[in-house]
Amino acid sequence: MSAVETLDRIAREVSVCTKCVLHESRKKAVTGEGPADAEIMFIGEGPGFHENEQGRPFVGASGKFLDQLLEQAGLTRADVFIANVVKCRPPANRDPQPEELLACSEYLDGQIEAINPSIIVTLGRVSMSKYVPGAKITSIHGQMRQINGRFVIPMYHPAAALHQPALRPSILADFAKLPDQLNEARAALGRPMVEKKKIMLPPKPEKPQQLSLF
Ligand code: URA
Ligand code: SF4
Repeated sequence: MSAVETLDRIAREVSVCTKCVLHESRKKAVTGEGPADAEIMFIGEGPGFHENEQGRPFVGASGKFLDQLLEQAGLTRADVFIANVVKCRPPANRDPQPEELLACSEYLDGQIEAINPSIIVTLGRVSMSKYVPGAKITSIHGQMRQINGRFVIPMYHPAAALHQPALRPSILADFAKLPDQLNEARAALGRPMVEKKKIMLPPKPEKPQQLSLF
């Protein structure tokens, strides 16, 4: 199965998934989007209000800020794959619970395996914990480390930096380092730069069923 096919399959499974309670309040699942061969993958926490409405990641206020941060790194959304550790919105934006993270992890792990990015940028404490459990984000943000054959860079969540202006210079500086870190990762992994490819958008809804008059 190609990476595009795998991502499509995961998106279809997620859209009807009932493996944890978060499906109960889901309007639209947010599987993630970006090129199937992205060199950098961003992993946020979970859909918020606007993401749940639209079925797309980071489309609210923190998404606008993320766009600015990507620009800071010379990147656009077309260059990167953006996903979350849980694909359905936690009620009132509470933290995802351990059993929800566990239930949802096969989807994210499948996406990572299919995309095979050189760098994973975790956004916020929850997705950082997937890779560096128990770490303090204040001490390791912006630092790149090799984990299981790829590189992981924990960063602050854009929403945290929006609410705590004191964090802004740090998150801006961390994003500004990303191009150099990408070159470092490419060299370490022996990967040449890849060309930009097709963007994965959320799956189209199935054809509406023809309504019978009887
Ligand atoms: N916050 C996240 O962590 N993920 C989103 O998709 C949107 C906001
Ligand atoms: Fe399934 Fe993940 Fe949604 Fe839970 S959050 S219902 S595991 S897709």
